[in-house]
Amino acid sequence: MEDSDGTAASPLLEVRNVSKYFGNVVALKDVSLRVFAGEVTCLLGDNGAGKSTLIKILCGVHTADGGSYLFEGQELSLTSPRDALQRGIATVYQDLAMIPLMSIWRNFFLGSEPTTGWGPFRRFDSKLAARVTRDEMARMGIDVRDPDQPVGTLSGGERQSVAIARAIHFGAKVVILDEPTASLGVKQAGVVLRYVVQAKAQGLGVIFITHNPHHAYPVGDHFVVLRRGRVYGDYRKDEIDVEQLVQMMAGGEDLEQLVHELERLADDVEGAQPAAGDLADVAHTMSDEVGPGEDGDGHARRV
Ligand SMILES: Nc1ncnc2c1ncn2[C@@H]1O[C@H](COP(=O)(O)OP(=O)(O)O)[C@@H](O)[C@H]1O
Ligand SMILES: [Mg+2]
Repeated sequence: MEDSDGTAASPLLEVRNVSKYFGNVVALKDVSLRVFAGEVTCLLGDNGAGKSTLIKILCGVHTADGGSYLFEGQELSLTSPRDALQRGIATVYQDLAMIPLMSIWRNFFLGSEPTTGWGPFRRFDSKLAARVTRDEMARMGIDVRDPDQPVGTLSGGERQSVAIARAIHFGAKVVILDEPTASLGVKQAGVVLRYVVQAKAQGLGVIFITHNPHHAYPVGDHFVVLRRGRVYGDYRKDEIDVEQLVQMMAGGEDLEQLVHELERLADDVEGAQPAAGDLADVAHTMSDEVGPGEDGDGHARRV
């Protein structure tokens, strides 16, 4: 990101060359990521690419085996998710840890209830909680008529938005959304995407994890594609269009695997079936079409 005078703004959160191993499994290798305030950074990649491992490092669940972590320009090593949260790095998980039968405001304040009164007269200030919940949701553009309504009666998209509003209320500077649209239909995904934009508009650094380029592209400012634990591509929005992003995703694992399967199948039936030659041709043609083009070390070319 550049200011008008051409000096680069500094990232809110940054990791440099982080690696993570699970025994022999290299989950992440030399991954770097920069997250700016007021921007949506999309983290894309197929299953097993390393997305969850990376966010677990960002939010203090895992410690990296190598590399550095900087937040607001300071190098740090997080000791726990609570440590991350206290510094303003909040994560909204897919399974939201909400209690469906409890009201929206109770869920909003779960674990950090405001109290009124003193000593033995201290009690949970439910009026304040209900008001704050309604106000915070209104800032996200959601009209909660009745904060007493059980959270379970909200749609999936609305529940995600309660979680995002809660993170913002409790002082998050970075909010990490782990596949918030994965289990939602088109309309509900749209609801969540609106709140992603709202969070960005409030100046947060948003990290949006998804494997759907069609969800990422409209809201993202910056796209980082992981493949097999490495950064396969890192683009700002003006450097890539949605078709190229789709190609990077779809042209990856799935097609490659299909090509290998077809080749194996062609080998198996070689000689036995006249169709074998055709299969080999199909596999060959497809391998020419895989991905946007790779350089020698398996990274996508900048396009
Ligand atoms: N706790 C763990 N123990 C062993 N292997 C793991 C663990 N967590 C992740 N992995 C491996 O690391 C790789 C990346 O996984 P993950 O970060 O979950 O990918 P993604 O979220 O992109 O689907 C996978 O090969 C996965 O099997
Ligand atoms: Mg994952």
